This record gives sequence, C-alpha cells and structure tokens, in this order.
Amino acid sequence: MAKRKESHDQNNDLGNDQNNDLSNDQSGSEEKFMDRKRPPKPQGRRSVEQLKTKTAKATPSSGAKGATKGASSKPVAQTDFEDRSLEALSQAGYFNEILFELRSGKEATVYVLEGRDGPFAVKLYADSRARSFQDDSLYKEGREITDHRFQKLRESSKKLGVPLEQALWIAEEFWQLEELYAASVRVPRPIVHMGRALAMELIGDAEEAAPRLADLRLSPEIAAIAFEQSVEQLILMLNLGRVHGDFSAFNLLWWQEKVYVIDLPQVIRISQNSAWKSLLERDVQTLCTSFARLGVRKNPQEILERVWSGKKG
Ligand SMILES: Nc1ncnc2c1ncn2[C@@H]1O[C@H](COP(=O)(O)OP(=O)(O)OP(=O)(O)O)[C@@H](O)[C@H]1O
Ligand SMILES: [Mg+2]
Repeated sequence: MAKRKESHDQNNDLGNDQNNDLSNDQSGSEEKFMDRKRPPKPQGRRSVEQLKTKTAKATPSSGAKGATKGASSKPVAQTDFEDRSLEALSQAGYFNEILFELRSGKEATVYVLEGRDGPFAVKLYADSRARSFQDDSLYKEGREITDHRFQKLRESSKKLGVPLEQALWIAEEFWQLEELYAASVRVPRPIVHMGRALAMELIGDAEEAAPRLADLRLSPEIAAIAFEQSVEQLILMLNLGRVHGDFSAFNLLWWQEKVYVIDLPQVIRISQNSAWKSLLERDVQTLCTSFARLGVRKNPQEILERVWSGKKG
C-alpha cells in the first residue's frame, strides 16, 4: 500500500501540489477542519455471518483450509461461504478473515477482509436478478473485449454461476481500475476479480475506511482543495480517454488529504461511446452539485470549460 501512495504522490494532481500543499503542520489538522455528519459506518457483523455456510465447521478432518491431512482424515469438499465467488477467493488464499461490512450500495456490498499483506476491500456484487442491465446500455455502447479475455470470463462465470452479462460488467470495473491505476489516476489498486467479487486496495485502514466526501463536513479551505483535486482527477481521466459516468461526492473518498475515485463499472471510453460529451457534462454538473453541499459553489459551465482546456488533443 505504501508503495502505491508513493507512485501517486510523485505524479500528483497535475502538478498542483503547491496550491494544495497541506504538508505543513498537519498534525491533527484534518481533525480540526472536518467532522462527520454521521459516525463511521462499519455496520453489521451479522451480514458477515450470513456470508458463511450454515454447515461449515473448522474441524481438523473437514478438508477446509488448515486441515491436517492423514489416513483417518480424508479431505471432504466443504465450503466456508455461501457465495461462490467469495468461496473461490478464499480457496485461492486471498484472505483469512472477513473483518467487517463496510457499506452496502445500489449494486454491491463492500467488505473489509484480512489478507496476507493486511486488510483489503472486496466489492461483492449482488445477484444480478436484483438489477436490470438494460439501464446500462448507455455505458456499454462500443465496449469491446479480446477473445482471450472473453473465453476466460465465460469459463469462470459458468463455474461460479454468474451470468455472463454481469461478469462482463464487473470485469469492466476491474480493467478500468487496472488502466487508471497504471496511469496514476488516484483509484484503489486492483487485486483480483472472481465472479461477483472484486478485490482491491482498501482506501483507509483496518480501523477506519476512508469516508466519502459526501459524508464529511470540511472547512471551506479543505473543501476547495478537495474540489480542485476532484477536477484534476476528472481531467486526468479525460486525457486517458475516459469519462467516469457517476462522478459525485458519493464516489469520491477522502484519505490523508487526497481524493480517491471509486465505483467504475460504468466508466466509458470516449473513442467508443458517442454519448461521452453529454456524460462528461453530466459528471461536471453532478460534481458541482454535490460540492455545493460542502460549501463549494462553482459554475458548472466554467468548470466544464476548464476541463476542456485541460484536455490534451
Ligand atoms: N477501495 C475502497 N476503499 C474504501 N472504501 C471503499 C472502497 N470501495 C468502496 N468503498 C466504500 O463502499 C461504498 C460502495 O462502493 P461503490 O460505490 O463502489 O459501490 P455501489 O454499489 O456502486 O455503491 P453506491 O450505490 O453507493 O454507488 C463506497 O461508497 C465506499 O464507502
Ligand atoms: Mg458508489
């Protein structure tokens, strides 16, 4: 995790760090400037329990992870989790324990898991029957996938019982994370995707996940900095040919004085989607509206012009 922050910090914010310099006398300053509208969310260990199979028992002869092999203890196929994607993640050794449920959103629940190298986040998408993919056609226009990726996805979605359409939607979020992360857009580092589960860097730590900007009250100065950073991320994405498609303070996290962009399955590539200009305008509008609640009042038209002028080529 530390490594990742380094690389982002080096390529920081289109060189705007001078304006946004918070580095002096930061001890406790964030505390001073902001407080939460609501207490931190971590809710529902109950839900975590529900993820486990009712029958799973960690007996030495069960064949579950950690079981001792012996003549009298034949491995018996047994699963720890009802959810097949989570089970696959567990079988592949990605995590030891589910620490807590972080937040439940429209289409997924995010959990914090304990892995070999510390805590990480898993976005576990809900059963696709709970949502309609028709609404996504705007974002899916022109999406292409290589044969190799398609075959792999088809096999794994079949194995894990995930409809191909949903598997594609989730994989798209993972690929977007990969590309944006590699290009130093401030997004969580992607780890792996399996079926309905997308594992990524946890923004925050095991005690406290990063809050969404929408959940904070910030001083005017800090709010203005957060807005500037958000616009910078938007411009960075645009210069990579991407439009987020849901760019609001609900999908922007604030951690150690930095904005992180999350929630990317609907991201579009401007070369492939004719609706990109109107989606970009909508993103700018949404950003301005959601920051107005934080006390930052900006004219969306002016911001859009700034975004255009930041676009290279
Ligand atoms: N990598 C992460 N690190 C820390 N918190 C995260 C991370 N990813 C997601 N979250 C938290 O989980 C919440 C839900 O994630 P996300 O927005 O990706 O899912 P969603 O189902 O689309 O949610 P919504 O319907 O609220 O938009 C986020 O609002 C954020 O609080
Ligand atoms: Mg979201």
